[in-house]
Amino acid sequence: MIVTIDGPAGSGKSTAARGLAARLGFDYLDTGAMFRAVGLALRDAADADAVLAAVRLEMPPGRVLLDGRDVTADIRTPAAAQAASRVATVPAVRQFLAAEQRRIAAGRDMVCEGRDQGTAVFPDAACKFYLVADPLARAERRHRELVAKGEAVVLADVLAQQQERDARDAGRAAAPMRPAADAVVIDTTGLSPDDVLARLEEVVRRCSPAR
Ligand code: DC
Repeated sequence: MIVTIDGPAGSGKSTAARGLAARLGFDYLDTGAMFRAVGLALRDAADADAVLAAVRLEMPPGRVLLDGRDVTADIRTPAAAQAASRVATVPAVRQFLAAEQRRIAAGRDMVCEGRDQGTAVFPDAACKFYLVADPLARAERRHRELVAKGEAVVLADVLAQQQERDARDAGRAAAPMRPAADAVVIDTTGLSPDDVLARLEEVVRRCSPAR
C-alpha cells in the first residue's frame, strides 16, 4: 500500500511522513532527497543524460548514497535545495527518478513524500495528502532548523529562497507541485506535529479500514 504526502518546503511533510510511516509500520521514501542527490551529481556535468545513465542512487533508511558515497549531510544545505529544484524542471531527471521511486516502492508498504507523488508517480495510491502552511510559518520553521544545525542564515533570505523554490516547483511544465484531485489537503499552520500526525492517521484508517 502506498500513501503519498506532497506539498511545499517547510509544510511539515517530512516530519509527518516519517511519523506516519513509523505509526503504520511502513517504510518511508524521501523523494526530495533523491532530487537533491541528483542535483549534486549534475553539478559540474556537461552531459546530463550520460550522468543519469550511469548514476547509482541508493536510499537505505535515513541515508542517501550517490555512487556508493554517503551524501546524507551534503544534500541538506540551502544551495543543495536550490540545485534540486532546478534539476527537477528537467523532464529526463523526473523520468529517471519516477522510475527509481516506483522500483523502490514495488511490493512494499510505503509513505512517499515529495511534490508529485500523488499526481505523477503514484496516481493510484491508496491515500493521498497535500500539506500546506502559511509561507512565513514555513520559512520560520526552516530557519529554526538551519540555525539549529549551526548555519548562519537570516529569516528574510530563507523566505526569499522559499518563494523562489515554490514558484519554480509549482510553475514547471513537468509534473508541477500541486495537490492531486483526490488528495486530502491539510493546513498545518498552528498545528503541532502530533496534531498533524493524528489527522493523517485518522484519514489513512478511513481509506484503508484494515490498518
Ligand atoms: O523536499 P525537498 O525540499 O528536499 O525537495 C528539494 C527539491 O526537489 C524541491 O524544491 C523540488 C524537488 N522535488 C520535486 O520536484 N519532486 C519531488 N517529488 C520531490 C522534490
